Order: sequence, then C-alpha cells, then structure tokens
Amino acid sequence: MGSRIVATGRALPHTVLTNKDLERYMDTSDDWISSRTGIRQRFAMRQKESLADITAESARIALERAGMQASELDAIVVGTVSSEYGFPSFGCQIQSRLGIDSIPCFDVAAACSGFIYAISVADSMMRAGDFARVLTIGTDALSTMVDWNDRRTSVLFGDGAGAVVMVTEPGPRGVLGSLLRSSGRQADLLSVRSTGIRSTIDSEVRRDPADSIQMKGPELFKVAVKSMAEVTAQVAERAGVKLEDINLVVPHQANMRILTAVADRLGIPREKLFTNIDRYGNTSAASVPIALDEALEQGRIHDNDLVMLNACGGGLTWGANLIRW
Ligand code: ACO
Repeated sequence: MGSRIVATGRALPHTVLTNKDLERYMDTSDDWISSRTGIRQRFAMRQKESLADITAESARIALERAGMQASELDAIVVGTVSSEYGFPSFGCQIQSRLGIDSIPCFDVAAACSGFIYAISVADSMMRAGDFARVLTIGTDALSTMVDWNDRRTSVLFGDGAGAVVMVTEPGPRGVLGSLLRSSGRQADLLSVRSTGIRSTIDSEVRRDPADSIQMKGPELFKVAVKSMAEVTAQVAERAGVKLEDINLVVPHQANMRILTAVADRLGIPREKLFTNIDRYGNTSAASVPIALDEALEQGRIHDNDLVMLNACGGGLTWGANLIRW
C-alpha cells in the first residue's frame, strides 16, 4: 500500500516586494537580481502577519480540494525551519488552527529540503500501515531571517506555504520512492543562528548581522547543482525509471541558474522543468509544494505522469521524491 497526493493548496503573505522595491533598501538593481537569479519579485511577511495562519490557510485549501474534513486526518507532518516557537511544533500550531485534536503532529527540519523530507517521512509512516490520511506541509519565512543590509543573500528569499493531502492507496500511482541525504560537515555554506527574533522588512527590530542567514553563495551554487542532479538520477534508477520518461521535474526554486544547470546535467529538456522562481524567489521548504500547486493549476501534470521533486538546502540536506501522479 503506497501513498498518493490527492490535493494541494498554497497561501502567501500579502506583501509583494519587487526587485525595484529592494533598490530602496540596498545597493542593488532589478537587472542584477533577475539576471543572476531569475527572481523578479517575492512575497514577504509583515510584522503583524503569522506564518502559522498563512500555513493553515494552505492546509484548508488542500483539504477542501481533497473533499476531506480536518477531523479525518491521521497525522500532520510539517517541513519548516520557521516556527515562531521552539515549542510547540509548527505541526501542533497548525493542528490547533484546524480545530482538531489527538493525532500526531510534528516538524521536520531540513531547511530548503524540508518538504522533500516531509513527503518521505509521511510516505514511510503510511507504508508502515498506521496512517491512511496525512497532511504534509512545506512552509518557511526566510525573509524574516536575513540581514536587509546584506544584498548578497537578502534578495534571494521569499515567504509562503504549500500543503498536500496524502492518502494510502493500492495500485501503481503515488510515491514510487524517495532518497534523502545530508552533510553536516558542510553546514557553513548556509546557516542561521536561532535567535527568536523575527525581523520582517517593516519591523524596527533588526537581527544582528551575525544572527542573520550566512551563505557562501558561489560554493553553495556548485554543491547544489551536483547534489540535486545526483540524487535525482539515483532515485530514478532505484525505481527503475529512465530520466527521459519523467514528464515533469518540480524542483526547489533556489535560483534559475541552479535549476537549468541541474536539468542540463541530467539531459532533461527545459520544457520538462517547472519554474516559478520569478514570482516567488526562494521560499525554502515551501517552494516545492507551491510549485506543485501551480503546476497542477496550469495543467502541467496529468494522471499517471512521472513527476520528480528535488531540493537542496541548509544542513546541508538534499533529496528527491519520484511520484507516479
Ligand atoms: N545586487 C548587486 N550586486 C550584488 C548583489 C546584489 N543583490 N549581490 C552581490 N553583488 C555583487 C557582489 O558584491 C560582487 O561584487 P564585487 O565583485 O564588487 O564584490 C558581485 O556582485 C559578484 O558577487 P558573487 O557573490 O560572486 O555573485 P555570484 O555571481 O556568485 O552570484 C548568487 C551570487 C546569486 C548568490 C550565486 O552565488 C548563487 O546563486 N548561489 C547559490 C545560492 C543560493 O541559491 N542560495 C539559496 C539557498 S540554497 C538553496 O536553496 C539550494
């Protein structure tokens, strides 16, 4: 008995920050950002907004599309590194907002790979037999963790949430396989110290630069391309699927140049690569479920298609899920 995604949903903060808007905050330009990253705008949290509220909204949309009540869920698994609380977990915060009780709810912390990890964890729980309906979420607000004076990192990130409803189902459709990897040795390529301070673009409180996201961009670029390409090829091989038979790759939207470099390495044509980074930036764990939701909305995914999800992020972590839709 495998697990299948039967519905998706996404939700975003209200504020759109264009590259032009960022020119007001730092010495940058629309041309630099869009040519180096493919990003034209991103959604950013304001001080009075709650990522848990936004995430609960994405969950309600997914549940409604699945024709399911929150009370029918057996578990909630959340890929995130953005909880406002050390505890309760983000999962428990969403559970309470959905007005349900008792079922296990917890977080998986794998930064930008959070949703890939969460799908793998949920799929394993469902295969083990105890869980039949799982709400799996990717949500993050890295714009609240950047130093708005650091043009090298702050322009990359945006905020948002995506949710999927997974059900157990016999037959050929569903998650065919997942592969997860990490390398704590390379933690210094991308990290942030947890300070409990949420510094939104409109807040007066600013994080100390040392407590903001630290990133070695050029080194990370190379590792991200190599690791995402390798894990994608490996998960396909393990499942006995040829890369040319994959209908759509829905990758973590890290940087347009990373995505095209991964596709080129694997010999995957651009038309099989789903990208929406121009409108969202890098939303960390939220990027794959948001992209999946948009790909479905745009009719890019059909029943029985082979869909590859992949990501790389802080940890370092990386991974891929292969799905027969
Ligand atoms: N606006 C204008 N100029 C800038 C900006 C900016 N926003 N940022 C950097 N620059 C300048 C630098 O100061 C530097 O100028 P200098 O030579 O006078 O010092 C110049 O541009 C080149 O800087 P680099 O950092 O070498 O630029 P690079 O071409 O490597 O691009 C980038 C930087 C886009 C961050 C790239 O390294 C990258 O994409 N790395 C991957 C990082 C990533 O995707 N992180 C996301 C999280 S990880 C993940 O999701 C997989």
